[in-house]
Amino acid sequence: MTTIIRREVVDSTNDEARALVAEGAEAWTVIVAEAQVAGKGRFGRTWASPAGGLYLSIILPEKMERFPLLNMVASLSVVDALAHWDMDASVKWPNDVHVRGAKVAGILVEGLVGPEAYWAVVGIGINSDLDLESLPTPVRAQATTLRHELGRDVDNGELLEELLAAFRGWGGQLDEPSRLVNVYASRCSTLNHHVTLETGEGLVRGRAVSIRTSGALVVRTDSGQEVEITDGTVLESG
Ligand code: BTN
Repeated sequence: MTTIIRREVVDSTNDEARALVAEGAEAWTVIVAEAQVAGKGRFGRTWASPAGGLYLSIILPEKMERFPLLNMVASLSVVDALAHWDMDASVKWPNDVHVRGAKVAGILVEGLVGPEAYWAVVGIGINSDLDLESLPTPVRAQATTLRHELGRDVDNGELLEELLAAFRGWGGQLDEPSRLVNVYASRCSTLNHHVTLETGEGLVRGRAVSIRTSGALVVRTDSGQEVEITDGTVLESG
């Protein structure tokens, strides 16, 4: 059963979710906020979270090994939910959702050990019922919002419903990693492109050729070597 907890303004729904786990929250507790004042992105970045966006975290009993797959489940769910508004969205590896080359959503999966189990907090942020102008200028340059794309208001309640339904559907595929990865790959705009990636070991340049069930992106570098990137940011793709 899904329990939805609604809040007006929080620091970060992921942090709220952690606190809820410590208090004994059940699996499939979902915390949704109208705005965040300390929304978190990957690598300690900030996630701009003005009122009008959709910000949520889903609490699930999952171990770290499955986090890359959960990330795929979340990415595919956002793509599917946006399709209900006729948006042709795609995934930029590993966890950004783009529309017409601009970022519309991001995912941050974090883990924690609860009193008796391992938990995943799947944080999803969607620039939904927002004017582009309500995002900070540096973000705006590479982002879009659903409202901006559609030219009309978006019902965040409806978006949440579509998203959670899709998440349940794709979540049912977690035990079939190869299938999940194949679908993810088919929606991933990074694959089969020449990319420049920022990684912990420096920049990597080459052609993105495949994605592993571990979530790693396989890149054939310009010198012909195949490298597996487990975590990084795609800086350029062309
Ligand atoms: C990224 O693109 O770097 C990931 C962004 C994830 C943002 C969401 S909004 C809901 C949840 N709470 C957070 O603080 N972050 C995630």
